[in-house]
Amino acid sequence: MVVRASAYADELVKTAKTVASPGRGILAMDESNATCGKRLASIGLENTEANRQAYRTLLVTPPGLGNYISGAILFEETSTSRLLMGRRLLTSLSSRVIVPGIKVDKGLVPLVGSNDESWCQGLDGLASREAAYYQQGARFAKWRTVVSIPNGPSELAVKEAAWGLARYAAISQDNGLVPIVEPESHVDGEHGIERTFEVAQKVWAETFFYMAQNNVMFEGILLKPSMVTPGAECKDRATPEEVASYTLKLLHRRIPPSVPGIMFLSGGQSVVEATLNLNAMNQAPNPWHVSFSYARALQNTCFKTWGGRPENVAAAQEALLLRAKANSLAQLGKYTS
Ligand code: 13P
Repeated sequence: MVVRASAYADELVKTAKTVASPGRGILAMDESNATCGKRLASIGLENTEANRQAYRTLLVTPPGLGNYISGAILFEETSTSRLLMGRRLLTSLSSRVIVPGIKVDKGLVPLVGSNDESWCQGLDGLASREAAYYQQGARFAKWRTVVSIPNGPSELAVKEAAWGLARYAAISQDNGLVPIVEPESHVDGEHGIERTFEVAQKVWAETFFYMAQNNVMFEGILLKPSMVTPGAECKDRATPEEVASYTLKLLHRRIPPSVPGIMFLSGGQSVVEATLNLNAMNQAPNPWHVSFSYARALQNTCFKTWGGRPENVAAAQEALLLRAKANSLAQLGKYTS
């Protein structure tokens, strides 16, 4: 059997390497309109397109952002709207060497036949949507599915998550987009770090098994894993060194060195915790670029500083740059608090 390689193979490798470049990581700003609405409500603002756009514009326009940020994940509405300043957002990002990407999954729904677990929708029509995103200038995609530790995970939920990610990855590469592969392990639960490690091993083993079956080119993907931590309600907390040790052990056991970048999610860690844990993982050279793709850990202080007031935009952008720079240093293993 001869499998046709993606016509975009060289470009995929180049895109993945650009995103995984030293001292840089991803700004995840692909909150759905509903999630954005919750954040806006927390500062007393209505969930209107204008307010969402004001905030998203603030996030992508700080001068010098490209020194620390190599990619930005956008929500569909963001990629098709115009910036307040009137330039197309994707062009604006590309001009500052920030690769534009887009969330392409359609969210989680209950997985019938499981232990109250979920599965991720979005494969129908994915190829044509991705072809259009490529035309608009996007160069990578993101698909987030969730594996619940307290509710299982059941064999069925893991297989569904892994298969969905693999199909999405193959379709994305066929349309010129580098797939970010994200099976998030939710932090909810009382389980200890060993249990998280065990589940993560299983999830990544299956994900790579199905990605290989789907002829996904590993040099042209990026991963977005959860760090290996104890559950949020576990009374034994872990130090950054412990988190780094378990997480790197997981990566060495399951992730081929051909994968260019591991871009962690922050998953509800505090902003400082997320930076310290990343820094601890970069104390010795790794076979992959080990970096960040944070939403909350990059945005939280920025969002609070903004508070919906135009006069706070500059200070809010400073707050974002501060976290971006801290995580850039952590990617290089040089962060000191
Ligand atoms: P957090 O860093 O807030 O966990 O978000 C990750 C994510 O998947 C958004 O793209």
